[in-house]
Amino acid sequence: MHRLRVPSAGGDYDVVIGSGLLEDSGALVATAIASETASILLLYDEALVPFAYPALAEQGLRKVFARVVSHPVPSGEGSKSLAGAEALYHVCIRAGLDREAVIVALGGGVTGDLAGFVAATFMRGIRFIQMPTTVLAHDSSIGGKVAINLPPAGKNLVGAFHPPRLVLYDVATLATLPRSERSGGLAEAVKHGVIRDPSLFVWIEQHADELLAGETAATAELLARSCQVKVDVVGVDERESGLRAILNFGHTVGHAIEALSEGEWTHGACVAIGMMCETRIADVRGVLVDRSLPSRLRELLERLLLPVSVPSRFVGGPPSDALIELMRHDKKAVGRTLSFVLPRALGDVVQDRDVDESVVRASLPD
Ligand SMILES: NC(=O)c1ccc[n+]([C@@H]2O[C@H](COP(=O)([O-])OP(=O)(O)OC[C@H]3O[C@@H](n4cnc5c(N)ncnc54)[C@H](O)[C@@H]3O)[C@@H](O)[C@H]2O)c1
Ligand SMILES: [Zn+2]
Repeated sequence: MHRLRVPSAGGDYDVVIGSGLLEDSGALVATAIASETASILLLYDEALVPFAYPALAEQGLRKVFARVVSHPVPSGEGSKSLAGAEALYHVCIRAGLDREAVIVALGGGVTGDLAGFVAATFMRGIRFIQMPTTVLAHDSSIGGKVAINLPPAGKNLVGAFHPPRLVLYDVATLATLPRSERSGGLAEAVKHGVIRDPSLFVWIEQHADELLAGETAATAELLARSCQVKVDVVGVDERESGLRAILNFGHTVGHAIEALSEGEWTHGACVAIGMMCETRIADVRGVLVDRSLPSRLRELLERLLLPVSVPSRFVGGPPSDALIELMRHDKKAVGRTLSFVLPRALGDVVQDRDVDESVVRASLPD
């Protein structure tokens, strides 16, 4: 079992990573919230029902807590909505939640963001616990950001900082994750290596095959190491005044591709494309020092079965105008320049707020 401590203005919390933890969820939650009498509302991704994870979590919680209500959340980005949150407020009322109650999210980033948003706002905020079931959720479950979408204006536009009291990561649940979701989550771990931890990057190079196969011990170690990077960054800068911005490596281009491609790839796959493209921007800007980084990054992402090129249909003409427009919107850039986090070498990135859009355009094709 791996255990990390996250410093937070709202109260420090633990990330516990191991196999078979859902069975012991009651004891772990009781320790984290220092109570065995709180009402618990378990909100779970309905797609997890066939794998029995919600039943396992509920049984684990019932070993300690007398009042446990569980409720499904529809799978998919669409449930991160105001209507989705409103429906859950009524569930909270029906479940009799009071200010001492705890909302537990069992699922990926969608369930975590939505349940966390409901916990942040119901009765002006009640306690919240994350039980992530995707690799990507090692990123979303730490740091305290919770949000819903506001279509058509954009994703994550309405949200709050509401750190969890515990992140309980049962890696046994990851056995059923579709391959594309596993690869997408691994892209964020590669990003953590590039921005802050060269030894993590090298470790992923050495264990790529085990990670792709979902091997339990390797996956648990990866999550612990990658979570540690996120913990180090948000521990210094929980409210995103400076350092936290480095987490956006690959995301300026990645988010734009994700928005244009309308669900064709996972978020992580779009970030993989974005990391390659932003590395080329670093080269053109004269920021890149480590000449071997582009080929190493490409090789690792390809081994993890991630895409590495901006699709040709987005290069040149109106499609690239649309991509640039989305990047401009994303970073609220001024005039013709855009802001990027660019790599100098493994573990060393810098923010460049002055990238001319002609440089971005030229860096789209590889
Ligand atoms: N709050 C943050 O800081 C933060 C950071 C990054 C991403 N996010 C958000 O996270 C969301 C993406 O998270 P995600 O990639 O986990 O998506 P997700 O929650 O939609 O899960 C991906 C898919 O995997 C399925 N699934 C989940 N666990 C499974 C399991 N164990 N076995 C089989 N299938 C499983 C889900 O039903 C879904 O179809 C986005 O909404 C994004 O905005 C938030
Ligand atoms: Zn991301």
